[in-house]
Amino acid sequence: MTFEQAKALLEEKKQTQLLKYYDELTAEQKVNLLNAIEAITWDFEEELANPTDLSGKNRDIKPINGLRLSEIEKRKAEFEAIGVEAIKAGKVAAVLLAGGMGTRLGVDGPKGAYNIGITKPLYIFEQQMRNIMDVTEKCGVTVPLCIMTSDKNHEQTVSFWKEHNYFGYPESEVKFFKQEMAPAVDYDGKIILERKDLPALSPNGNGGWFVSLQKAGLADELRERGVEWLNIYAVDNVLQRIVDPVFVGATIASKVNCGAKAIFKTEPKEKVGVLCMDGNQPDIIEYYELTDEMANQRDENGDLVYSYGVIMNYLFNLAKLEEIADKKIPVHIVEKKIECLCEDGVTRKPEKENGKKFEALAVDLIKLMGSVLPYEVVREKEFAPIKNKTGVDSVESARELLKLNGVEL
Ligand code: UTP
Repeated sequence: MTFEQAKALLEEKKQTQLLKYYDELTAEQKVNLLNAIEAITWDFEEELANPTDLSGKNRDIKPINGLRLSEIEKRKAEFEAIGVEAIKAGKVAAVLLAGGMGTRLGVDGPKGAYNIGITKPLYIFEQQMRNIMDVTEKCGVTVPLCIMTSDKNHEQTVSFWKEHNYFGYPESEVKFFKQEMAPAVDYDGKIILERKDLPALSPNGNGGWFVSLQKAGLADELRERGVEWLNIYAVDNVLQRIVDPVFVGATIASKVNCGAKAIFKTEPKEKVGVLCMDGNQPDIIEYYELTDEMANQRDENGDLVYSYGVIMNYLFNLAKLEEIADKKIPVHIVEKKIECLCEDGVTRKPEKENGKKFEALAVDLIKLMGSVLPYEVVREKEFAPIKNKTGVDSVESARELLKLNGVEL
């Protein structure tokens, strides 16, 4: 894109602030800026003008049936046999969503490269690979692993995996792909400048993962290899079981398009989003959307009826994902602290929120999948998220849970 083209485009879009420092830039910086302007996706204009109604009004919320631990235990051998067969037949792949910025943890570089070890190094990526390899070693096969990164952490993530020799996994099975970026805007809808030659762009949420996988050619590659199921998982949870044969088998046996691992809520007020039905479609209801009556509703066994809290570990049917790939999922407009170029020419993260980011969430795919199996897991054995350094869902709490599960730190 030439300067004249960029200027014409930005005049039409009322975003000429992006060229404010153009004359001060070196030749190379000018090219960088023009390329970045050319790559901007403008969907955010429509989102700002007509934000999706995310209030949850007008929904017909009902409880959803799922598999409780007792039922899973009873049918474990049956489910496991189906899952192991699917894994051995190459029908299952894993997809790690690691494009987030991990701002709450507040470390530089990819969150998965964080060392949770105490007496020896143990990286989050490494611990998760141990969990996958427990299964692949037992089944005697490897599964394809696709890792989503973003422009903000791609190079660092790829080199970290290389440096650590893919944590003992075959390099040929590991594919990296980048998610899309979306501009961040100020409260007047103007794209923020992060540097004189760079508009502020950030990962567009984890909801676009499948479209990005397709764009990278990996969805085709997986289908051609015979993959039918994708187990997506988040980088935070160090205890989760990935390509868990019992979960895979239960999802296949239930003839649904999607399985969702879930912790069972025991406190009416616990702050987790739970699976539910909206009319005849599966959905998630956030804790703050539940009325008191719904939050306290119990079944004949005394269990809460809105109780399956999702933990970002899903098994998605690939054919169904391909069918719904062009359907729109809601975009969440979130106020954030956005790194920006300050008056003195220095780039800083502000003390308080200074603008908005646009994010799609993987959880919003559930509705489009048409059917879901809520699948209960033992909280203390499979849920140790690392969001913060200390306190709730932190490095500290995850370490305690890892120790409880016999992991040497
Ligand atoms: P979170 O929202 O918890 O992670 O996403 P985050 O964005 O990295 O953390 P904060 O909010 O800045 O502290 C859950 C999972 O989704 C991935 C994350 O990497 C994590 O595995 N994710 C999130 C993406 O892959 N892309 C995104 O744009 C956002």
